[in-house]
Amino acid sequence: MGLFRLVTGLPGPSGFGSASTAEQVTDGIDASHLTVVITGGASGIGAETARVFALRGAHVIIAGRNMEAADDVKQLILRSTPLARVDILKLDLSSLKSVRAFAGQFLSMDLPLNILINNAGVMFCPFQLSEDGIELQFATNHLGHFLLTNLLLERMKSTAKETGIEGRIVNLSSIAHLLHRYEEVIRFDKLNDKDTYSDKKAYGQSKLANILHANELSRRLQEDGANVTANSIHPGLIMTNLMRHSFLQMCLFLQL
Ligand SMILES: NC(=O)c1ccc[n+]([C@@H]2O[C@H](COP(=O)([O-])OP(=O)(O)OC[C@H]3O[C@@H](n4cnc5c(N)ncnc54)[C@H](OP(=O)(O)O)[C@@H]3O)[C@@H](O)[C@H]2O)c1
Repeated sequence: MGLFRLVTGLPGPSGFGSASTAEQVTDGIDASHLTVVITGGASGIGAETARVFALRGAHVIIAGRNMEAADDVKQLILRSTPLARVDILKLDLSSLKSVRAFAGQFLSMDLPLNILINNAGVMFCPFQLSEDGIELQFATNHLGHFLLTNLLLERMKSTAKETGIEGRIVNLSSIAHLLHRYEEVIRFDKLNDKDTYSDKKAYGQSKLANILHANELSRRLQEDGANVTANSIHPGLIMTNLMRHSFLQMCLFLQL
């Protein structure tokens, strides 16, 4: 979708555009044969994605770090769709230990996995290191999802093989990867350099990593002949909790 369509909401060749809702896009789709994991499904875009997948009959696993918020979303979904299949599992993407624990728990549930939506994210945070000692935006937005995807990939491939249904991995990236860039683009040797840290460029860097991850994974999946695709997307500009470190800036930006 080009910038013009993104801003105006004009539909593209698919008939849908940035102004289309998830319900419109999935109208008439029966997803009852699908199992979906959504990271960060306890708020914002992830919560809406979880709601609409559940509405279409999918088995939804909300992977959230705040279990109270995740349960609130589950209850909200059940109120509007009483027969919805929704589970909540604990996942903190900024902790590699937590990512491994989540993957272990999910795999032990012996469920198929058709769709993995790597949606969770933080934006423009002040400099902070994760518990593994990695700059927080890179650790959360990219590294946690990278490890999670690797740990769940075999289950996705086997599900696609057994069911004949194409598996899908979706990384939530952002147009910010174009707007905010370090000179080195990705600073592999300066990830944790507090002195030259830019909250915006670090976000852009992590979102570029989401794209590179999807591109290379996609290439490898094709090479393997796996019936699983990997893509990255920019979801549009939506006021959510993501703007907690940039609320005023975003309000001004959206006024323009
Ligand atoms: N909104 C936009 O305009 C926009 C534009 C471009 C891209 N995106 C991308 O879209 C995705 C969703 O964003 P959103 O707007 O829906 O924001 P949001 O409402 O803040 O949702 C992000 C979710 O990620 C979770 N999360 C943050 N850190 C986590 C961690 N360490 N482990 C597990 N979960 C964690 C948050 O949990 P807590 O509630 O506990 O913080 C929250 O549930 C993000 O990847 C973002 O970069 C959004």
